[in-house]
Amino acid sequence: MATHVQPVIPAKDAAYPAATLVARLQEIAGEFGRVAFASSLGAEDMVVTDAIFTAALPIAIFTLDTGRLPRETLDLLERTRGRYSREVEIFRPDANEVARYVSENGANAFYESVELRKSCCHIRKVEPLRRALAGRDAWVTGLRRAQAVSRTDLPLREFDAAHGLVKFNPLADWSEEEVWAYIRDRAVPYNALHDRGYPSIGCDPCTRAIRPGEDVRAGRWWWESRDNKECGIHVSPLVKPTREKTS
Ligand code: ADX
Ligand code: SF4
Repeated sequence: MATHVQPVIPAKDAAYPAATLVARLQEIAGEFGRVAFASSLGAEDMVVTDAIFTAALPIAIFTLDTGRLPRETLDLLERTRGRYSREVEIFRPDANEVARYVSENGANAFYESVELRKSCCHIRKVEPLRRALAGRDAWVTGLRRAQAVSRTDLPLREFDAAHGLVKFNPLADWSEEEVWAYIRDRAVPYNALHDRGYPSIGCDPCTRAIRPGEDVRAGRWWWESRDNKECGIHVSPLVKPTREKTS
């Protein structure tokens, strides 16, 4: 993974991170034709969404509705549409694949092993992401370095070999404080779960509130080891995991 910053990405102006974000997104949209932003509707993603919609940038926004999202996340999707009057594309898992997983393994088999968890993530996130990115020239995420040990080297711009696309992480060098300052300053809609101890939100059965002192991703797949907490949409190459039971 390249860690150097390419010239296309303006350096962060610490006094005006919001202006830098818009400048970064403008550069990306100017360099690539069909750009798409992947939004989980988390706090970071609401910042990027606000920047894209408010500046009317030619960047599509999509979300992966896994079928297991919390009600609060689906509520936020509706509030986002109401606030900006712009479309957020929705990609869903293949219903046959979900049905097969559930009948072979059980609806909540992801608690049983890392393999079964990754297999569920593959069906509900990784494969829909592949469809969401088909026909795009570049994609954008809301990833930040400070979110996890696995993200400390995250570049602002990288080549995503799994999808054959340039991938931008324009909030890579943002702090959690900068994210929340942006949200407060612009009254950006955000997930109600953030006020109930959920700094990082994924699927309902795989996300819990964190306790004081825990790291921000401690509530994601909390039964697994700390170093392993990625769902597969940000690692390469795409390897289709087995669906067989391990027991
Ligand atoms: S995850 O890999 O652990 O689920 P995380 O929740 O931290 O990722 O989100 C990191 C980035 O991945 C988000 O900013 C967003 O760009 C993308 N992402 C994660 N989940 C989704 C989703 N359901 N739909 C679209 N993009 C997503
Ligand atoms: Fe399945 Fe949990 Fe992954 Fe969602 S986060 S796709 S429910 S294993």
